[in-house]
Amino acid sequence: MPLQDWNPGLYQSDHSFVWRFGEDLVDLLDPRPGQRILDVGCGTGQLTEAIARRGAGVIGIDSSRNMIDEARRNNPQLDFRLEDATNFSLDQPVDAVFSNAALHWIRPPRDAARCMARALRVGGRLVVEFGGYGNVRAIVDALHSAVRHLRLDDSIMPEAKYFPSIAEYAGVLQEVGLEVRSALLFDRPTPLKSGKDGLRGWLRMFYSMVLDRLPPDQCEALLDNVEQRLNPILWRDDHWIADYRRLRIVAVRMAPDDATNGK
Ligand code: BEZ
Repeated sequence: MPLQDWNPGLYQSDHSFVWRFGEDLVDLLDPRPGQRILDVGCGTGQLTEAIARRGAGVIGIDSSRNMIDEARRNNPQLDFRLEDATNFSLDQPVDAVFSNAALHWIRPPRDAARCMARALRVGGRLVVEFGGYGNVRAIVDALHSAVRHLRLDDSIMPEAKYFPSIAEYAGVLQEVGLEVRSALLFDRPTPLKSGKDGLRGWLRMFYSMVLDRLPPDQCEALLDNVEQRLNPILWRDDHWIADYRRLRIVAVRMAPDDATNGK
C-alpha cells in the first residue's frame, strides 16, 4: 500500500531535485546496452528514462498509481509496473537493481531487500541511494516539537521513515544474500525552491498525510511554528536548506553457497 497519495505535478515541478541529484547515481550504475535493469520506486520515471537513454532495457516499479500513470504519460515506450516493492517478482532476473530516494518509504526493509535480491541474477549489482541515519533530523524534530507545542494529537504523525546506518543496512543486505562492496553516508544539504515558501512546499509534498488531517487554521499554525523553529538552522539568505543525509550502497548478489557460508 502506498503511504500517501502522491501528487506527481508537485513532485515534478518544485521537487525535481529528487531525481536531478539521482543522475550521478545513474553514472555509478553505469547501465550498458544489452543489460536489463530494474528501477525500484521509480516515481514519475525521470531516472528510468535516463537509464534507458544509455541503451539498457529497464523496468520501473512503484506502488503509487498516480506516479505510475504519470511515468507512463512521460515515457509511453518504457515498461512501468504498479508493484509493491516488498512483494514482487520478475519472470527473468535482471543485471542490476537501481533505486533512488525511495527505500526510506518502504517497510519492512527486509522484505524489500529480499525481493530486490531475488530479482537479481547471481553477480548482478544493487545500486541504491536513500535517506540515511540522521536524515532530515532537524525538520522531523521541529515537526514533533510543533505538534506538542500546539497540543495537537500526536497520533497524526506518521511512522518514522527508514533511515538506517551503514552497519544496519549492510546487515539487512547480507541476510538476503547481497554482499556490500561500497557504502557511504554523507550530508547533502539541499536547497528548496520557492524562497520563503520552500519549507512549506516541502512539507506539503512529503507530510501531506499529517497536514491534510488538520483544519486549515491548525495547519497554518503548525507550518508557522515549524518555520520559526527551523529559521535559525535551515534558512540561508533567501531560501531554505533541507538537512538531507544520503546512504549510498553498491552490493552484489552472491551465489547461494557463498551467501550461506557468509552466515
Ligand atoms: C528524503 O528524500 O530524504 C525524504 C523525503 C520525504 C520525507 C523525508 C525524507
